[in-house]
Amino acid sequence: MKKTSIVCLTVCLTLLLHLPVLCQPFMTNVAGRDIRSLDGRWEAIVDLFDRGEVMKVYKNQTAEQFGRFVEYSFDRGIRLEVPGDWNSQRPELKYYESTIWYKRDFDYTPSPDKRLFIYFGASNYQTDLYLNGEKIGSHEGGFTPFQFEIGDKVRTGHNFIVARVNSRRSPLSIPAMIYDWWNYGGITRSVLLIETPKKFIEDYTIRLAPGKTDEIYAHVKIAGSGTAEKATVSIPEIGLSTTVSTDKNGEAEFTAPARLTLWSPENPKLYTVEISTLSDTIREQIGFRTISTEGGKLLLNGKPVFLKGVNCHDEIPQRMGRAFSEADARMLLSEVKALGCNFLRLTHYPASEEMVRMAERMGIMLWEEVPLWQQIAFSDPGTLDKANRMVSEMVARDKNRCAIILWSVSNETAPGPDRNRVLGEMIRHCRMLDPSRLITSAFSHTQSTPTSLTLTDPVAGLVDVIGINKYYGWYIPWKCSPKELVWNVPFDKPVIFSEFGSEALYGKHGDPNNATEWNEEYQARNYRDNIAMLPNIPHLVGTTPWVLFDFRSPYRMNGEYQEEWNRKGLISDKGHRKMAWYVLKEYYESIP
Ligand code: GCU
Repeated sequence: MKKTSIVCLTVCLTLLLHLPVLCQPFMTNVAGRDIRSLDGRWEAIVDLFDRGEVMKVYKNQTAEQFGRFVEYSFDRGIRLEVPGDWNSQRPELKYYESTIWYKRDFDYTPSPDKRLFIYFGASNYQTDLYLNGEKIGSHEGGFTPFQFEIGDKVRTGHNFIVARVNSRRSPLSIPAMIYDWWNYGGITRSVLLIETPKKFIEDYTIRLAPGKTDEIYAHVKIAGSGTAEKATVSIPEIGLSTTVSTDKNGEAEFTAPARLTLWSPENPKLYTVEISTLSDTIREQIGFRTISTEGGKLLLNGKPVFLKGVNCHDEIPQRMGRAFSEADARMLLSEVKALGCNFLRLTHYPASEEMVRMAERMGIMLWEEVPLWQQIAFSDPGTLDKANRMVSEMVARDKNRCAIILWSVSNETAPGPDRNRVLGEMIRHCRMLDPSRLITSAFSHTQSTPTSLTLTDPVAGLVDVIGINKYYGWYIPWKCSPKELVWNVPFDKPVIFSEFGSEALYGKHGDPNNATEWNEEYQARNYRDNIAMLPNIPHLVGTTPWVLFDFRSPYRMNGEYQEEWNRKGLISDKGHRKMAWYVLKEYYESIP
């Protein structure tokens, strides 16, 4: 080899070694691994003009180290709780939408037979990560996990992590510039150090085999193994244990007979599943069920099911902040159950893993969605990859969660050539990643007359289940009696009425015919009217009224009734159930 090319090769290799690590696929089921939490009070610096990168804040140098004064300091900065949005932690950060630098020290003793990763449950919106002053990687997106391997960079003894988190909205981000929820910024879910063996079980999918209820399908991926490995999948409760050899990529897939009790809302049966190799073992609770459609019917475990649902943001209204803990999930989901629901639409972005796992234990089926909300830059060349990566991360984290029956690719996006193309590609991508679940989207662009509405959205022909959002009696005045409104949905598929409702300020009472004073009587009447219309919806298999709790939104600016709260909640921001809550509960109790 010529000297020149050796030099070039050396330069390239050197550059590669110092390139920040791009986002790797994160490992499955982090809770089941050898983890150390970095949650708690992190030091932080508010960087409104986003100058910190130029100032090398991530080096965290003192004046002595830098050789002259430094104009930043973590140790005399503020403290922020991780996990937790910053908006709800300090009054001055209520509207903050720029950069905050976080710093966390940790001691570590590397061991020769272990690998080390750092894992973020979520961080909104753009996150750049540094270890001991060196960049290790970046992630875009506010609602899905990311991880970086740091074992080859971590020091023995003292280390420090610095994260630059920027929550600025942008026309090219997903979601983009305007959306009807609070733009909570920061490290909003847990941060973990994860130690694994050199060869470890990186990923696995365990579910029923396609079209079967007495056979499981398993896919296992071992990282770090250049040769075939033995991997065993077992479900001790049913005496299942199958050992296979992985291929040279460390992957194996197989099916095996299995006599299982199927998961359902009535019996949310979960099994301990264990995956083991010579060097690694991981286990978790997994449920098994089928979800399918037959023409306009939705079938759970082969039987028609009606989804008695509701929408819910990942927010604790009483705390005015992002939900993140098991206690938060328990509060929200206990209200879902109290309402008589068997279904929950997680709007408009993946919720915390705690929320998804608890819904599974409580027998609540889920619709999970990526945040393509209304105006998205579909014509931008980068949008499809960004959207598909968000789909990949959502599916990667929750693919083993039987409670999730629907993946949703968007909410109320307007039909158009670029949007139809991008959503079509996302649907294909999602189906390739997970052929076991149904795909949906919430549509709102229809053709209407005073007595009818017709869904003409071409993407409705590509999904498995159609969601339709319509606010008759609020944004759309009734032009006929609800019972006379004709719905035309020219697709032989199941339909979910995925949003309806109206606003009411808890405790405000008045004329049930007056929609302008935010009274509870009007909201309750609006629920009765929409419920009266439900039989007109062809192939209706469920409904998720908008919305379980009042939630925060910057563009809800009516100073008397809203004060930056969207008041369509069935429950107020303080936890009081409104009159409409009882109307919906009575309706759900009337369904066998
Ligand atoms: C839309 C949208 C929701 C929004 C709701 C409303 O349909 O999907 O995110 O909050 O309507 O206007 O209250």
